[in-house]
Amino acid sequence: MQKPANNDFPILDQLRQRWSPRAFSNRPIPPESVRSLLEAARWSPSCHNAQPWRFILAAGQAEGEFQAALACLREGNRNWAASAPLLLFAVARMNFDKGGDNRHAFYDTGQAMAHLSIQATALGLFVHQMGGILPDQVRQTYGLPEGFEPVSAAAIGYYGESDSLDEDLRKKELAPRIRNGVSEFAFSGAWERPAAQK
Ligand SMILES: Cc1cc2nc3c(=O)[nH]c(=O)nc-3n(C[C@H](O)[C@H](O)[C@H](O)COP(=O)(O)O)c2cc1C
Repeated sequence: MQKPANNDFPILDQLRQRWSPRAFSNRPIPPESVRSLLEAARWSPSCHNAQPWRFILAAGQAEGEFQAALACLREGNRNWAASAPLLLFAVARMNFDKGGDNRHAFYDTGQAMAHLSIQATALGLFVHQMGGILPDQVRQTYGLPEGFEPVSAAAIGYYGESDSLDEDLRKKELAPRIRNGVSEFAFSGAWERPAAQK
């Protein structure tokens, strides 16, 4: 199923085609594709090149590990994310090597996830990110050291069948993708004065 952006101006095809599904196929992701996803994240920019992101992966084939990962999601996400062949937790290191808070740690971790997501689209994969995680459960399950914060999770895989979803989720799956207009977030000169678009 495709849900391309209804973009007003031209954008990269991968940006246009990316969306966040809930129906995943159980087809496993080739190991080389997983390596490419992580490599794409690796080359993401970051404040002072601190690279604060850390990822914890749980593949569906590793049944015990996968169940432990599912238990770190909020219930509403657990239902559909269980069908994905790969779950990933994004964790941020909140301090710099030389000490001091890294106030861009979440920002940079999100940016690394954006890189990963676009690489995924180029490989025919889908990434559905989730803020609905249980941070304490993530800390406990994976033994996060001090100074590291769970940020988000992602379900990753090939697309499945929207018919596999219950009615409520299927409605969400088929709903149109909507966005604010550019003039609502791009300003110039003064707050909320839309940047000129020519
Ligand atoms: C940081 C973050 C947290 C999100 N949390 C959830 C979540 O907990 N559950 C969920 O179903 N979708 C979650 N999403 C997916 C968004 O709802 C989705 O990206 C948004 O509705 C836009 O849809 P699109 O990705 O298909 O364009 C999250 C996305 C991001 C980036």
